[in-house]
Amino acid sequence: MIRTMPIAQQTAIRITEVGPRDGLQNEPDTVSAADKVAFIDALSDSGVAEIEVSSFVSAKWVPQLGDAAEVFAGITRRSGVVYSALVPNMKGLEGAVACHVEKIALFTAASETFNRHNINATIAESIDRFRPVVAEASAQAMIVRAYVSCAIACPYEGPIAPKAVAEVVRRLLDLGVDEIDLGDTIGVAAPTEIDRLYEAVGAVVDPGRTTLHLHDTRGTALACLLRALELGVRSFDASTGGLGGCPFARGAAGNLATEDVVYCLERMGIETGVSLPRLIEAGSIIERALGRRLPGRVYRAETSGRCSDPS
Ligand code: HMG
Ligand code: MG
Repeated sequence: MIRTMPIAQQTAIRITEVGPRDGLQNEPDTVSAADKVAFIDALSDSGVAEIEVSSFVSAKWVPQLGDAAEVFAGITRRSGVVYSALVPNMKGLEGAVACHVEKIALFTAASETFNRHNINATIAESIDRFRPVVAEASAQAMIVRAYVSCAIACPYEGPIAPKAVAEVVRRLLDLGVDEIDLGDTIGVAAPTEIDRLYEAVGAVVDPGRTTLHLHDTRGTALACLLRALELGVRSFDASTGGLGGCPFARGAAGNLATEDVVYCLERMGIETGVSLPRLIEAGSIIERALGRRLPGRVYRAETSGRCSDPS
């Protein structure tokens, strides 16, 4: 049996803004480092707790983020905001250390086929690769997050058993990572699947030590977030204006939009610490740089000039 808590009794939650990384890795055109810096600086002023700035991965695989070092050098780091980056291996960690990154995010999956497409490794190989990375990151006093992609389903294998996700989580915790992040990479989850996921994962880690990373391909992500809140999850990833997707997961659309999360939770009386107007300002910066409208619903409502929230 899983334990639930009424949403009304929830305390503040943590939002990690992943737009600069997950959002921009999937864009057909590369955004300039200067535009990324302006976007991230605006996000720093919005009150989000953490910003996933970029990735230290191969620029042959993800050219859109080949300027991670330049972006880290350009941003103004605001005290109280955590700035993180994706790291797949020791080479990535070296890049992150050189840029004084305080938190890294390793990434593997609960699907062998997705992992092979994404990082050219089996799950076991990826975990072996992470061992020295976690040891060195801990020696450098870095915080280590570990993503498990395809926590609900895989674009190649279909549904993934919650037990398989829990097993990957257990192996990552054995390595000594600080935080587990569960990804619905292709945005298929319904709230009942979040129940089943946490029934299995809750046996190896407290939901309060996990983050949920929802893509909103089918419009179910906010419902899943609300269900996860009842299960004790406190930390969520989201992306400005609903940017996002993974180049190695066919059909994956953007992340759950940060504005949608902030709007809904604040209206429910749950503190996010994020200013919606400032977030929208940050969204306008990246929207101009991309030259197209962002898809997020609250973002659109608030910037269309027709139906902004009167309250
Ligand atoms: P590989 O080809 O197997 O690696 O790629 P390799 O060790 O054989 O190296 C190949 C080349 O890459 C070499 O350079 C290395 O030096 C270089 P060359 O000799 O050809 O000039 N290289 C690197 N360069 C920069 N930084 C590094 C690095 N490592 C090797 N860290 C590798 C393996 C992991 C590097 C590759 O597969 C890769 O970079 N993949 C990127 C995957 C990625 O970024 N995917 C998107 C993010 S994950 C995601 O979006 C899901 C998530 O949002 C959660 C969710 O939604 O579920 C997190
Ligand atoms: Mg993602």
